[in-house]
Order: sequence, then structure tokens, then C-alpha cells
Amino acid sequence: MMLRPAIFVLFLLTAHARVHPRAERPFSTWMADSVIARGQGHGLSTSGTPQVSYEHGTFHSALRQLVNVTGNATYAQWIQSGIDNVLNSDGTVGATYNMSAFTLDDLRIGPSFIKLYQSTGNAKYKKASDEYRTQLNKHPRNTKGGFWHKLRYPDQMWLDGLYMGEPFYALYADTFESHNVTALTDLQNQFSLIWSHCRDTKTGLLRHGYFDLAAASRSPTPVWADPISGASPEVWIRAVGWYVVALADLLTPPDNFPTTHPAYAALLEQYRTLIPALAKNVDPATGAWWLVMSQPGRAGNYIESSGSAMFVYAMLKGVSSGLLKDPDGAIVKAASRAYEYLADTFVLKNADGTLNWNGTVIVGSLDQDGTFDYYIKQPINMNDLKGAAPFVLASIEYEKL
Ligand SMILES: *[C@@H]1O[C@H](CO)[C@@H](O)[C@H](O)[C@H]1NC(C)=O
Ligand SMILES: *[C@@H]1O[C@H](CO)[C@@H](O)[C@H](O)[C@H]1NC(C)=O
Ligand SMILES: *[C@@H]1O[C@H](CO)[C@@H](O)[C@H](O)[C@H]1NC(C)=O
Ligand SMILES: *[C@@H]1O[C@H](CO)[C@@H](O)[C@H](O)[C@H]1NC(C)=O
Ligand SMILES: *[C@@H]1O[C@H](CO)[C@@H](O)[C@H](O)[C@H]1NC(C)=O
Repeated sequence: MMLRPAIFVLFLLTAHARVHPRAERPFSTWMADSVIARGQGHGLSTSGTPQVSYEHGTFHSALRQLVNVTGNATYAQWIQSGIDNVLNSDGTVGATYNMSAFTLDDLRIGPSFIKLYQSTGNAKYKKASDEYRTQLNKHPRNTKGGFWHKLRYPDQMWLDGLYMGEPFYALYADTFESHNVTALTDLQNQFSLIWSHCRDTKTGLLRHGYFDLAAASRSPTPVWADPISGASPEVWIRAVGWYVVALADLLTPPDNFPTTHPAYAALLEQYRTLIPALAKNVDPATGAWWLVMSQPGRAGNYIESSGSAMFVYAMLKGVSSGLLKDPDGAIVKAASRAYEYLADTFVLKNADGTLNWNGTVIVGSLDQDGTFDYYIKQPINMNDLKGAAPFVLASIEYEKL
């Protein structure tokens, strides 16, 4: 009792205040406006030099959905001026892009090229799209046709890459190659390879990545590769997050590919299998998800905000699109509970009225040993777009409820 006044004063003095998800104004536009106010997601690095960044591509995806629900052209302009920052005037991709490095991450901004070509008719955006298509044509593959994550990770597939590369691939094949069936079959194979090598029987989720053991004679075997499956040991939240968001986006308008192609049914089955597995692996105390999902509750593990926001989005998008049946409302209930926890815990209001986003781990890579200790040692970032952009996506869906 004696402590109460002190706590109350402390609360009043703190620079950041908590805000309820339904308070004041919708978080979708509020968080997006805050990101824009910070100058993020605009084709520039933190030091202001042009940069091709998958984080920006992720934010663009959220902004396109905001344009769809608000009709506000401000968000479309932010995408266009951001893309113009990384393209040369002739439409070649400039900034930090280097095709010879064959990184799938760089393709994440590719859908913005295609959408801008469609909305403006400006040939430079088509030229940029074609350059990325050329990268895919030349992209190194493992012995089963899977795209390497990067040239410097030979014969490795990471879940992250499926969100970085496939939405561009699907959209390009659909838009400029009249639903190129070969490309869509190839895309399906990327998801099937991950599924067959990375499935974790304990959680029903997917391990972070795998090395193609059949390529061991030409590529170094990473220390983390399981001798039978080639998979890395742990289920890392953001990798699963990217993967389910890729599925959600590839299966739903406006970016879904033809429902008549067999890839559609194959991906839908993965989506319908993963969403219940997410519900099964939720932390009962918070309703959100652990950084290392294969070791919930272990000392050093924590609830991570970017992956949790991605799951909320993928769950709600599945229900709002009708792809996931939710007769008893359990999916919506679980996703809403997680969303409200994220909003309460990681959204902070600044004195200038903008919102901060907290609790997103900076990195998780298979560059090192892929162990639990590796993942938990990575620093947590404030206002990381890898979390703030998925939170905008999650908010758009939550606000539709
Ligand atoms: C569009 O969004 C911007 C940024 O939030 C805002 O300043 C502007 O008032 C909005 N315009 C309309 C027509 O709502
Ligand atoms: C582009 O990437 C390749 C492969 O990693 C590398 O050899 C080359 O030096 C890079 N070029 C530039 C300009 O950085
Ligand atoms: C269809 O996709 C395949 C695989 O990406 C590619 O090799 C081929 O050139 C594409 N065909 C057309 C007509 O664009
Ligand atoms: C929003 O997206 C839906 C689904 O693709 C589409 O039917 C609708 O026309 C879009 N609305 C706007 C304003 O773009
Ligand atoms: C941001 O999150 C970290 C990790 O959860 C926490 O230690 C820190 O106190 C948070 N910062 C604020 C301002 O809430």
C-alpha cells in the first residue's frame, strides 16, 4: 500500500507510456506514420546512403495493404520515392545491389518494382523487374533445384529466403509470363524442399534451414547440419514467421497466384498445418511466442516481438480470407490475445506522439553454429523494421475484426 504513490509518480514521469490497442487511433496507420516520421523504409540506410533492404520491402508490403484499406496515397508515395532512391535513372538497380552475390534478400523489394510499373507505366520499373528475373534465372541451386540462400551460403536453404524471393518470383511469372506454369511449379518445389528437410516433429514447426547433404562433395558442410536431414537444430521464431507470411501472401489477394495450379493446393496444405502448430506452441502465460520455439521457457529465452507479430498476421489473414476455417473462433481468439499482449508490451508512445516498437531481435543467422546460445545472445533492437512492419500488417487484420 505504501508503495502505490511512488509507482504512480514513476508512471507519470516515464517518457514512454503504454497505449491500449483500441485507444486514440488505429495502430496500423499510427505505427506506419511513426516509421515514416523516422525516415525508415525509404531506400536509405541509417546513415542516409541508398540501400537495397528486405526490411524496406517488408514495410512496402504493409504500406500497399494500408493503401488498400485507407485509400490514402501518402503511403504509395513513400514506396515510390523509396524505390526511386535505389534505382538508377535508366532503371538498373543501383545502391547496394550486386547480382553476383546472389542474395535472395535483395529480391524482397522486387514486388514494389512490378506494382509501380503497373500503376505508373514507367518503363524503368519494368527494367528493374527484369533485372531481378535475370538473377532468379541464374541463381545457384542445390541438387534438388532449391535456391541457395546466398552465394556465400552454398547449398543452404533458409526459411527466410522463401519470403525474400518467392513473392517476387510468383508476381513476375503471373504478371509478365502469363502465369508461367513452370515457374509456379519451381516455386512449389522451394516450399516442398523446406518442408521435407526442416520439419521438427516435436513442435510441428520448421527448423531454420538445411544444408543439402547430397552436395557435400562440392560445398562445405556447416557445423549445424544434422547428419540425416541436413537441418539446423533449432526452430527460430522469425524464420517461421517469414515462412508463414510468405504462405499467407501467396495464397490471398491481391498477390495470390492462380488457384487452379497444383502449387496452390500444396501451399494451402502447409499453411493449414502450420497455423494449428503455432497455436499449439504458444506461451500459455502471455499468449505470444518464444524466440527459440524449440526450447520454450529455457533460461535466456524470451518472447520475441517480430515473429509474434508475423504469426498474428498470418493467423488473422487466413481467417479473414476464408482460407482457414475457424468455426469456434479459436484462431481469432488466440491471435487477438497475442496481439493485445504485443501492443501492451512492445508499443511505446513517445512525447512527440509517435510510437516506438520494441522487443525485436536484430539478427538470427545460420552463419554461425545455429545453437540455442547463439540465438539468445543476439541483441534486441528498438524500432526495428523487421518487427514494426509485421506489426502494421497484424494491426490491419486486427482492426478488421
Ligand atoms: C494520409 O496519411 C497521412 C499520413 O498519415 C496523413 O497526414 C493524411 O492526412 C492522410 N490523408 C487523408 C486524406 O486521410
Ligand atoms: C559482388 O559479389 C561478388 C560475389 O560475392 C563479389 O565477388 C564482388 O566483389 C561483388 N562486387 C562488388 C562491387 O561488391
Ligand atoms: C518460365 O519459368 C521458367 C523457370 O523460371 C523459366 O526458365 C522460363 O524462361 C519461363 N518461361 C517464360 C515463357 O517466361
Ligand atoms: C483491396 O483489395 C481487395 C482484394 O484484392 C480488392 O478487391 C479491393 O478492390 C482493394 N481496394 C482498394 C481500395 O484498392
Ligand atoms: C525494450 O525491450 C527490452 C527487452 O524486452 C527491455 O529490456 C526494455 O526495458 C524495453 N524498453 C522499454 C523502453 O520498454
